[in-house]
Amino acid sequence: MKDHSIKDLNTMGFNIIAKSFHEINSLVDLYDLINNNTFSDSKILFLGGGSNILFQEEYYDGIIIHSNLKGITIFDYQDNSSNNSLTQSDVIVRCMSGEIWKDFVDFTIDNNLYGLENLVDIPGCVGASPVQNIGAYGVEVKDCIENIYAIDINNGKEIIFKNNECHFAYRDSIFKREENKKYFIYAIDFKLKRNSELKIEYGNIKDFLHHKNIENPTLSDVANAIRTIRAEKLPEVGVVGSVGSFFQNPIIDTVNFQSLKEQYPDIPSYPNDKGVKIPAGWLIDKAGWKGYRENHVGVWDKQALVLVHYGGGKPEEILNLMHKIQDSIKEKFGISIKPEVNIV
Ligand code: EPU
Repeated sequence: MKDHSIKDLNTMGFNIIAKSFHEINSLVDLYDLINNNTFSDSKILFLGGGSNILFQEEYYDGIIIHSNLKGITIFDYQDNSSNNSLTQSDVIVRCMSGEIWKDFVDFTIDNNLYGLENLVDIPGCVGASPVQNIGAYGVEVKDCIENIYAIDINNGKEIIFKNNECHFAYRDSIFKREENKKYFIYAIDFKLKRNSELKIEYGNIKDFLHHKNIENPTLSDVANAIRTIRAEKLPEVGVVGSVGSFFQNPIIDTVNFQSLKEQYPDIPSYPNDKGVKIPAGWLIDKAGWKGYRENHVGVWDKQALVLVHYGGGKPEEILNLMHKIQDSIKEKFGISIKPEVNIV
């Protein structure tokens, strides 16, 4: 389709027009495009639900490919006995890339499969989940990924990436690098468990459950708790435009952290092997931006890490706000914050 609106495929809700748009309903559709040389000499973007993308301009001068591949299959231990890394309680769930992430997670919970419950209600498609290694409440998708099935659109060859070949890190993987943007992800194998410990250590999940008098939480108790906590902090997709966290949480060195801690004794911090991670939401909040509004865009009043579009605005308004916030955080704390959203 030429000059196609993707207003419904970017959760920021901007009326972006794509020069060319193709939906992939079967791999034959993709091979047809490859065989017809559709991809030569063009800018190409694989777009899932558009929940982590910001288009800089209202016209996207390239080809957008959207996976609509559907299907979920559960393979039990017996079906995978040749795979030595699996134990009896492991289950492989193969999911096609066009499935909606939140529906897929709900499916795993309904089937009593453990692993993805902390990632409930994240907007977007399954195929996009490994690209930025989505994460929430102490879990990252990399913890459950076994294999990723992709097609190289330059030659139509299939390639299977094992977890350790994806170089997963905080909101990062090899699929974010320019040279790997040729891989169309068509399916993912997730390794889940029939039984496992639940992860309730992050933030206020434990307190929340305690408050509800839930002493021995089940899989769905944890999922429901996280659903409620998320809904209290994040704007509802489709109602207010956003991309979830707009910035990454910066990691600073311990010397800088110590001097900030003297100035701001209440600063939250998460030490890791690279330094100390500071919540960007806290920095933006502390700098006074929470609830700020400028015409059609602003900073969400319940979570300062989220920039919002109230409708009728243009991408440049969000970009201007982004620069203002970055400058202010640099000036106040000496910290550079980088966008978490993928800007194209
Ligand atoms: N905070 C404030 N003010 C704010 C926001 C946060 O003081 O306006 C403080 C909180 O009090 C808390 C700390 O910052 O002490 C961390 O806040 P929160 O637990 O809400 O998490 P976050 O660091 O803001 C990250 C992820 C989210 C994920 C949550 C929960 C990133 C960039 N974001 O946010 O992911 O849902 O943790 O695990 O790592 C996303 O990627 O789009 C996303 C929503």
